Amino acid sequence: MATLIWAAALALAAQTTPNSAPRTPGEPVSRIAFGSCYNQAKPAPIWATIAAARPHLTLMLGDNAYIDSDDPATFDRIYGQVAADPGFALLRSQSRMIATWDDHDYGKNDGGEEFPARDMALAKFDDFWQVTAEERATPGVYAAHVFPQGGRTVQVLVLDTRYFRSPLIRENNAYKPDDSADKTMLGEAQWKWLEAQFRTPADLRIVMSSIQFVPEDHIFEKWANLPRERQRMLDLIKSTEAEGVLFVSGDRHLGEISMMDGGVGYPIYDVTGSGFNQSRTDWRLQEPNRHRVQSVNYNHNFGWIEIDWKQEDPLIKLQLRGEDGDVLAYQPIRLSWLKRGRIRSN
Ligand SMILES: [Fe+2]
Repeated sequence: MATLIWAAALALAAQTTPNSAPRTPGEPVSRIAFGSCYNQAKPAPIWATIAAARPHLTLMLGDNAYIDSDDPATFDRIYGQVAADPGFALLRSQSRMIATWDDHDYGKNDGGEEFPARDMALAKFDDFWQVTAEERATPGVYAAHVFPQGGRTVQVLVLDTRYFRSPLIRENNAYKPDDSADKTMLGEAQWKWLEAQFRTPADLRIVMSSIQFVPEDHIFEKWANLPRERQRMLDLIKSTEAEGVLFVSGDRHLGEISMMDGGVGYPIYDVTGSGFNQSRTDWRLQEPNRHRVQSVNYNHNFGWIEIDWKQEDPLIKLQLRGEDGDVLAYQPIRLSWLKRGRIRSN
């Protein structure tokens, strides 16, 4: 039965997967939705809200379903449920979706390279998200998508922070920074690939990381749990002279915009959209985050990037929006702010 539902869902997805090009020919990619943490067992009115905003791209940052299993039949059943959600199907029919995974759709809570079923989970991911044969040829879900329209190039870099990730140190329910030289977040092959991507010309590089890159003060999963790897990322941005790098992340069941001086010559922003229907809806204290510039510490939300390419120095609106589409957090930046020399002390 599960197989039948799965087959029907795949057929539906194949019919409705849209072209990757923006809707108006020649228009640069300028409206990008993103977010994370969708529990398929709960309603998600946010899909219709996102669809109404007409994003050119929708970036799925992981925990795109709560699978938490090493059983292939469970993957089939739950991906089938996701595909059958009318709101999700509507959005997918209108907007190119690009996905990475986080722990719950990887299959193991806070899991990494030690998860024995990771290759089965990868095959299920590839089927559901219809990744290309080229992407299937390498392990992990990392991938690059380039949209060179209207004389402007938007690069979307999908990171895999699960498949290759070394075990973390956890004490008293809190992750501890681990500086061991042999611990990795991305693995060597993915680091090499990322270096090549950073050397490829692009105006704006949106880096999809399931876990937060900039925040470092909370006790949960984050790049800062492997500080050498986090620094390696900053060093790579600097050594490749890549400009226009902007991180988007999920996982935390809260929305926030963070920013740091990482020594690359321009500010590193990290916009966390989380979750589609898995946030606390009542008021709660914020998590500590020395880099926070905007926050949504309650309410389901999605991230929204809107770029006005017509301006001489393009305006990039970084936003978090709620279930009803209201703007809950907003930080406007300029493309020139993401260029080397913006922070002159470096
Ligand atoms: Fe997660």
